[in-house]
Parts: sequence; structure tokens; C-alpha cells
Amino acid sequence: MKGPEPFYLSENTLHVLDQRVLPKKVIYRKARDSFAVARLIRKMVVRGAPMIGIVAAYGLYLQSLKNPKRLREGWEALKNSRPTAVNLHNVLEEALPLVEREVSPEEFLEFAQKVEDRERRINEAIAENGLQFFNRPMRVLTYCNTGMWATMYPGTALGIIRWAYRRGLVEHVFAPETAPYMQGARLTAYELRLEGIPYNVVPDNHIPFLMERGMVDIAVVGADRITSDGYVFNKIGTLSIALAAKRFGVPFVVAAPSTTFDPNPYTEDIVIERRWDAPGEDYLYYAFDITPPDLVHAIVSERGIWKP
Ligand code: MRU
Repeated sequence: MKGPEPFYLSENTLHVLDQRVLPKKVIYRKARDSFAVARLIRKMVVRGAPMIGIVAAYGLYLQSLKNPKRLREGWEALKNSRPTAVNLHNVLEEALPLVEREVSPEEFLEFAQKVEDRERRINEAIAENGLQFFNRPMRVLTYCNTGMWATMYPGTALGIIRWAYRRGLVEHVFAPETAPYMQGARLTAYELRLEGIPYNVVPDNHIPFLMERGMVDIAVVGADRITSDGYVFNKIGTLSIALAAKRFGVPFVVAAPSTTFDPNPYTEDIVIERRWDAPGEDYLYYAFDITPPDLVHAIVSERGIWKP
């Protein structure tokens, strides 16, 4: 694995890689309790649905060390840090019995390590399962960032791309910028560079045009929440990719761990995050959009392939 670690634990402190300044700077921000971890999540220092869930689990460990009396409150702070991505919610629900029993820091640490290891193993299985969509060297369009800082190495959509590239099944990757936070231009491009995969960063508005020109063989993206009836919540702009893919006959494949699955069907009550740090009051920034199941060719998880 090349590139800086997404986080590390040292002296009762979680050091979290600041993804906002990558690749220009490698800076780790410190958190000593779950409130500090929640702040780092809210500020997008750490981002990507699975990684948010993992650092939240470590946040509970830190809280149990520092002040177990405020565990429940710390759990709530984490829970409210980002509403759309479901991994955070799923991990916190899994941890709730531990919080209620106020188990020892050792048990919280064990839990966090389990969550981390599980995501890593899941991603390796996703990468393997996704290979079946590659039958020749292909030109791949991905979106946002789904790699080693957003999930766990090797990544979800990016894990599939990595595995396929190593088998000679990726000719080229298009990484859309993903405005306004530019996760594609900064993070995906950096990971592709580290891996030696040929790529271009493209402005988001180029996507339908590239497909119309026949320059894309497959689109592989991640997800932040997939409802039980197959609606895919992902970084805003994903819906435009799916619509263009349908129009131009490009398979639109979603890669996500089962920890991104919401056991409930789609409802309009699911909160779509807004970003409030836009350059002006006249701006409107949503963080996610929703792709309906009929636009999805396949969903790849560690369990296999699902056609919603
Ligand atoms: O940068 P975020 O946390 O707002 O975006 C989440 C994502 O990373 C993407 O939507 C990604 O495609 C799926 S999560 C690995």
C-alpha cells in the first residue's frame, strides 16, 4: 500500500489524516474523545462513508478512556455528525449495547479494530467480485473518491479498478473533479498516480460528452447509502452519470460494502446533507443525490452482485 495512512492511534490519541489538504500537504489532526472525532467528521477532515464509520468506532474507544460518564453523549455527537451516509449509523447502532453496558476501553478498542479489519476484508472481496465486469482492457469512469482514505485499502470502486488494472484489464481511468470539494481531482487522482494507473481528471460537465464520444466502457462508482429497494445515495453528480450511462449504453456499476446498506426502503425523509460553506449566500450546495434502481446495471458488494 502506497500513500499516507488514513489514521493511526498513539498515546490515547487518534491522529486523523486531513483529507481537505491532500495531496499538497500530509497533516494529521488529533482527537482525544468522541466529541473531537465528531468535529473532524463534521468538518470533512475525514470523509467517505465507510471511513467515517471506522473513526467513529475509535471515537467511542477514546471516550471510554477519557470520560466514560459521557459515553452516551459522545455517541450522540457522533451520530449527529453526518446524516446521509449510513455506515456511521450502522456502526453506532452495533456499538450501542457496548455503550449501554459501559464496557471497558479494551472492549471498545477490540470493537473498533474489528470494524476496521472487517472493512478491509470486505473491500478485498468487493475488488474480486467486481472483476467479472472486466473482460478486456477497459476505459473506466469513476466518481468522487472511494479509495484508501474514504474506505479501507484497496477501496470500493477504486479497489475494483486497482485489482482490474493489476490484471491488465484497465486501459484508462477518467476521474471527474467532483466539485465543490474536488475529491476526484485531489484524492482519486493522487491514488491513481501512486498506483501508476493512466488517468485524466475531467471537469464534471464532461461526463455525458465522453460517453457520447464512445470514450467510456464502464462507469464504476461508490455509495454512501443503498436502500433495501435499490436506491443509491452517492456524491451529488452520480445521478447525471447514471442518466448519461443509460442514454449511451455504458454499464453503470455501484460498488459498496454491506455496511453501506440501509435495511429500510427509500423514503423522502432520509436527510440529504447540505454544505453551508459555499462562497456566497446565493449558492445552493447539496452533498448527495439519489439514483433510482432502474438506472443501475449492478451493485457489487462483498456478498456478490445484485441487480436492483
Ligand atoms: O466526501 P464525502 O464524504 O461527502 O463523500 C462521500 C463519498 O466519499 C462519496 O460519495 C463516495 O462516492 C462514496 S463513499 C466511499
